[in-house]
Amino acid sequence: MSILKKEGVGRFKHLISIDELTKEDIIYILRLAEKFEPIAKGKKVNKSLEGKILANLFFEPSTRTRMSFEAAMKRLGGDVINMTAQEVSSVAKGETLADTIRVVGNYADIIVLRHPLVGAAKFAAENSIVPVVNAGDGAGQHPTQTLLDLYTMMKEAKLEGSKIALMGDLKYSRTVHSLIKALALFNTTIYLISPPMLRLSEEFIEGLDTKTSKVFEVSLEEVIDEIDVLYVTRIQKERFPDEEEYRKVAGSYVITLDLLRNTKESMIIMHPLPRVNEIATDVDKTRHARYFEQAFYGVPIRMAILSELLDGNG
Ligand code: NCD
Repeated sequence: MSILKKEGVGRFKHLISIDELTKEDIIYILRLAEKFEPIAKGKKVNKSLEGKILANLFFEPSTRTRMSFEAAMKRLGGDVINMTAQEVSSVAKGETLADTIRVVGNYADIIVLRHPLVGAAKFAAENSIVPVVNAGDGAGQHPTQTLLDLYTMMKEAKLEGSKIALMGDLKYSRTVHSLIKALALFNTTIYLISPPMLRLSEEFIEGLDTKTSKVFEVSLEEVIDEIDVLYVTRIQKERFPDEEEYRKVAGSYVITLDLLRNTKESMIIMHPLPRVNEIATDVDKTRHARYFEQAFYGVPIRMAILSELLDGNG
């Protein structure tokens, strides 16, 4: 039995939105991930999910999320089944998401779902007999990415009380939509930096819990010398209503060595990846770059999530 369930938190049956988690839940998962790190690196063995099966249902492209879930499950002794490309699965015959979810729940103990529609994961959870994890629902949320982002900040910089710039496509990035809500719980100063067309909506900003955190829209130049974390996202080309709109903003921001001249030594740069051209590759060699470490942290974080949802004993 997981600690979260034992203490009656009880909401952690599925993981659909970061809003479901309290600050205490988040800290608990980050601590659990820390315990899993040596197993994620293959330095210790733990087979607590032996006999369990995870089904990956990805209706959108993915490299890191799908593979790190697979690595996490296998490192813990579990197994993974994958839906084949939509074109060759029953989805191509017109099967509904509800039916696919009902059927796959008979083959697996947990479903990891990525889907282009906002709300798809919630809908799937309502139709599922096994736990569902949201691995991205359109421009909605990406809660497991948020947990690994917070973990990266905790390990490589600091989380509580830090100054974080979220830069890029704030309108369509689901990673930002989840992350900003969680950051608001950690007494942070959040700077929003984006081309005017890609701003986070007023509604979203107004809906944020700003009891302990502050949110400002700024330019990078105004804050580059004071931030602890620069979190960059790619322009989410696939979410644009038309190609013409995308072309208006494509390539409109690039982090170069030159822009980093006045940063704090300890400032870290994060990116959920994939990168297109938002960060020049010569930035990779600097002490600031942490996006590849960030991608690794997806494994211990997803181990912690799987272990919780499947009642592994850690
Ligand atoms: C992100 C996503 O799918 O939202 N990728 C990821 O999971 N690391 C970010 C992106 O695609 O830009």
